[in-house]
Amino acid sequence: MHELRIELNSNKEETYKSLLPQIDALVSGEQDLIANLANISAALKSAFNWWWVGFYLVRQNELLLGPFQGPVACTRIAFGKGVCGSAWQQAQTIIVADVEKFPGHIVCSSSSKSEIVVPIIINNQVIGVLDVDSENLNHFDETDQLYLEELINLVQYIFKR
Ligand code: SME
Repeated sequence: MHELRIELNSNKEETYKSLLPQIDALVSGEQDLIANLANISAALKSAFNWWWVGFYLVRQNELLLGPFQGPVACTRIAFGKGVCGSAWQQAQTIIVADVEKFPGHIVCSSSSKSEIVVPIIINNQVIGVLDVDSENLNHFDETDQLYLEELINLVQYIFKR
């Protein structure tokens, strides 16, 4: 049984820096992908208290909802659709400051105001995405991009075994 050590008063960068090695330690001893993605979602939710955080995995040419924390969400997203499908298509991180201004944004929850989606790229192929939603406008920036991409990179072995 693990318990995360999260400094509640630290800034975002410090939180990421202390959290990432703890997530690595949390998932490195477990082989099952779904169990690990569930714990990563829970760790991120408890550290940042985002509105929604979780994974979509590429299954039969669409994104299928995976482990997450937050309100119920759309289960399937087509290639190129919404922020998640666009991050898959472009194979790069997308930050949306105001989801109402993103053409084709898929509304899973009307409380969601801004979003960041980080593709999971293994052997040059997008195999899923990490999606984070905030109920505040303009919530995500390059610091989130840097550390969330680093997180995916750090734990890429969980997608390979
Ligand atoms: N808003 C996302 C859909 C997923 S939910 O936010 C959980 C999108 O446009 O891809």
